[in-house]
Amino acid sequence: MSHASPFPDNAGANSVLQDDVLRGQWFVVAQSGDVPLGQAVARRLLGGDVVLWRDGGRIHAWQDLCIHRGAKLSLGKVRDGCMVCPYHAWVYDGDGKCIHIPAQPDRTPPLRARANVFHVRERYGLIWVCIAQPSGDVPAFPLAEDTSCRMFLCGPYSFEAKGPRLIENFLDVGHLAIVHAGLLGDAEHEAIPEYEVEEGLAHGVGPVARNIRIHQPDPDGTGRAAEVTYDYQVHAPLVASFIKSQGDNKLFMGYTITPTEEGFSEAWAVFAMNYGFEIPEQDLRAFQQTVVMQDKAVVESQRPELLPLDLQEELHLRSDRMAIAYRKWLRATGLKYGVA
Ligand code: FES
Ligand code: FE
Repeated sequence: MSHASPFPDNAGANSVLQDDVLRGQWFVVAQSGDVPLGQAVARRLLGGDVVLWRDGGRIHAWQDLCIHRGAKLSLGKVRDGCMVCPYHAWVYDGDGKCIHIPAQPDRTPPLRARANVFHVRERYGLIWVCIAQPSGDVPAFPLAEDTSCRMFLCGPYSFEAKGPRLIENFLDVGHLAIVHAGLLGDAEHEAIPEYEVEEGLAHGVGPVARNIRIHQPDPDGTGRAAEVTYDYQVHAPLVASFIKSQGDNKLFMGYTITPTEEGFSEAWAVFAMNYGFEIPEQDLRAFQQTVVMQDKAVVESQRPELLPLDLQEELHLRSDRMAIAYRKWLRATGLKYGVA
């Protein structure tokens, strides 16, 4: 079943918006600190325009379009807990209702004079938006809320690639010793040992991979080699995470992809570590930047750009079984965006 797009001027046949599964997902559009009180911030999401603003502490995410003549609300002003359009200064309250029209100050604004209000949540220091009925909650990252961990954010990283290829890259252990040689693997340890995979549920959680043991010359940017164990989880079609353990030391990474335009994505990452409190955050972030840039060249080169869900396409190894489980699960979710 296909629904009318919440971004009416962007509903072309090839738009990423045409995907019903995507429209029910939560996407990160900004860090909380990117939207200070009193400011309207413009973002792109699923090929459409979104405006973010706050009244008091409450965050709002609306289609960035005034119903009167289509001006961008993000060019307007946030005033007295309301959004004021830059063109004819219609005033919208925090629920998106137009409460004042300066050209006809004595008339009650018509009921249709409303902003298109999206679902929005702030979690892990990120602003998550869903443009239709959410199919679930914002993904749960317990370690990112664990007070015994240090937490930090990375991104957005821009890619000229679609989400499924990016998430599969995140789940791919076979490339660590090659693409990230010297950091997340090396030439002496390219073989991938056996590991366990639990298939995802069609209308529930995605696949899980456990106990993937890998030798890493520099698992976290400290330069100290270690045998690490990865546990991966797919939370949503474009959200995955891992916990990388060295004994009791745990490094969590949540990775979430936001399709901004057809063919373009932004990746955001949430990190939590229960060790390494002495490492400057900028060093940890620089390390991730290096790793992501190594992936970028390869992932943007992949053809077809659409992830093939027919397992007869491309070749699969035993060590690819998390990727296989991801492809099977994507098919079960009914996602059409970024896959073939
Ligand atoms: Fe917004 Fe006229 S276009 S008030
Ligand atoms: Fe990588």
